[in-house]
Amino acid sequence: MSDFTLFLGKFLRQGTAIASLAPSSRWLSRATVANIDWGRPNVVVELGAGTGPITRVLAERAGAGSRVLVVEREPDFARLLRERFDGTPGLEVIEGDARDLAGMLRDRGIDRVDHVVSGLPTPSLPEDVRREVIRVVGEVLGPDGTFNQITEMPWVYLGLYRRLFEEVRFQFEPRNFPPAGVYFCRGVRPAAAAS
Ligand SMILES: C[S@@+](CC[C@H](N)C(=O)[O-])C[C@H]1O[C@@H](n2cnc3c(N)ncnc32)[C@H](O)[C@@H]1O
Repeated sequence: MSDFTLFLGKFLRQGTAIASLAPSSRWLSRATVANIDWGRPNVVVELGAGTGPITRVLAERAGAGSRVLVVEREPDFARLLRERFDGTPGLEVIEGDARDLAGMLRDRGIDRVDHVVSGLPTPSLPEDVRREVIRVVGEVLGPDGTFNQITEMPWVYLGLYRRLFEEVRFQFEPRNFPPAGVYFCRGVRPAAAAS
């Protein structure tokens, strides 16, 4: 079964939990990690990896000394990611919920993350889930840490991300189905993470 067929099937069954008709294109995947300085070792977390188009770019670019933790909640996607990426130095696939990120890092002796790359359907997450994900991201990101979020609704959620983060920049990526983009964010606003 192709990634597109698998992905579409999950979308038709699970709707907003998947929130996309197709995996991200190579162009969108590259754009999403463009903010990361690969000249030094990084700790990178990918949330909501799906079939792994962005994971593939991370696996190609992360140099020696970097760690890449790939978190995916959907069991079939997590299995596929393990088949594809187990054995990649420094990269680990974790089947689990993004809300549990702090514990996942603690279990691995990691106390700071340099970059979070998110394929999560952040705008369509239930309010309490979104708040918790953003709270955890704020807790684990270092002072210069970045949050890099794909979207298939270009510009539509600029206001939402500006409420969540101090700094937000948007980049359009038309070479995707459907046309898409990336929000590059820094600095979780305290109010976004408060319960
Ligand atoms: C829009 S898809 C993006 C998939 C992939 N990153 C891509 O770019 O093609 C969203 C993904 O987030 C996953 N997801 C949704 N909620 C999640 C959660 N709370 N924790 C971890 N993964 C989640 C879904 O299972 C799905 O694979």
